[in-house]
Amino acid sequence: MITVPTTDENIKMDSRFRKFDVNEIRKDFPILGREVNGKPLVYFDNAATTQKPNVVIDSMVHYYKYENANIHRGLHFLSEVATEQYENARLKVKEFINAMSVSEVIFTSGTTDGVNLLANTMCRADMLNEGDEIIISHMEHHANIVPWQLLCDRKKTVLKVIPINDDGEIIMDEYKKLISPKTKLVSIVHTSNTLGTINPIKEVIDIAHDNNIPVLIDAAQAVAHQKIDVQELDCDFLVFSGHKLFGPTGIGVMYGKAELLNKLPPYQGGGDMIRTVTFEGTTYEDIPNKFEAGTPNIVGGIGLGVAIKYLNMFSFNDISEYENELLKYATEQMLDINGIRIIGTAERKASVISFTVDGIHPYDVGTIIDTDGIAIRTGHHCTQPIMKRYNVTATARASFAFYNTKDEIDVFIKALYKVLKIFG
Ligand SMILES: Cc1ncc(COP(=O)(O)O)c(C=O)c1O
Repeated sequence: MITVPTTDENIKMDSRFRKFDVNEIRKDFPILGREVNGKPLVYFDNAATTQKPNVVIDSMVHYYKYENANIHRGLHFLSEVATEQYENARLKVKEFINAMSVSEVIFTSGTTDGVNLLANTMCRADMLNEGDEIIISHMEHHANIVPWQLLCDRKKTVLKVIPINDDGEIIMDEYKKLISPKTKLVSIVHTSNTLGTINPIKEVIDIAHDNNIPVLIDAAQAVAHQKIDVQELDCDFLVFSGHKLFGPTGIGVMYGKAELLNKLPPYQGGGDMIRTVTFEGTTYEDIPNKFEAGTPNIVGGIGLGVAIKYLNMFSFNDISEYENELLKYATEQMLDINGIRIIGTAERKASVISFTVDGIHPYDVGTIIDTDGIAIRTGHHCTQPIMKRYNVTATARASFAFYNTKDEIDVFIKALYKVLKIFG
């Protein structure tokens, strides 16, 4: 017979506040200790996905080893344990974003799923109809463009786009001009994954609310870098992905104000979201279950809850101060390199640097520095309209997390000089 360790024994996490020490933090992330192409890994692709600390990995292994069962359905011991863990994760999310109630936290498969959920249910609730307008910005990820376009095709709604200036900031006067009695939703990214711009979200929300328009925030790139408080922002909906928050892939969150979620119909039908089913008709569960049909990503939810618990040990002030230092350190050195153009120079910027190198394709930049173990992203970053705005087909993008270091940036800069030499 095996002895089953408790979750806390197994994941060995104490929840005391930790002093910010990047060398200690790095020890929590096993992948950061590996080599790639014979060189120590330099992972600068955090806007695509973040790495996972041991506690997250261990909690998921622990769940499958000792606690695996379906949730909400069984009265047996394991089912109750799994349900408790999953619902605890919901509570962690609620506290993390300061939602008013756990019922406002809907688990999704990610940011994309959250936007699609809302686009589908808002139109079925007649909140978006023919001729109604949805405002987005020019810097949206495709996940906050395409679901609305699909809706426009179906319902003949109209998409309006807030333009951006050359620095990559939304033009607030143009935003105000776009608002009309037909505007039924503003859906905007908090922090751009391509430009790094941190939008003046509170101001955007307040202006929309002055006109009785609800607001959806795409917080995919924000949650790992700064405190998000949905009550302080007063946003109506907010979506993010667990994997950009040091949690697993396949799990995400859609937050919505209860009064609005209650007005929306279910997204998908199936088990767990119903109260009664007969062939004549079905009644639905209350929120959040109403939006969570079928067996959910239980282990994903548990992993996300642990990722939040891990992150809670640090202060977001320390994290953003440190990441700003990295941003400044890298930006200054990159600007010294002949032929490098940084795309996205907003005053309020997250630790994301998109750039091009004169005469060298971003794919070549990415491929060459990969031989030195450096992982950056190249391409359009699911933001083709931004590429068009800056008249490029692709960029290279380095994006930092709180476990990156100035030493790694030195390696990266050296590699960029090597690229220039090869092509020079
Ligand atoms: C700003 C932004 N929105 C949405 C998404 C989509 O997230 P996911 O693919 O996890 O659904 C991303 C992913 O890169 C993103 O950066």
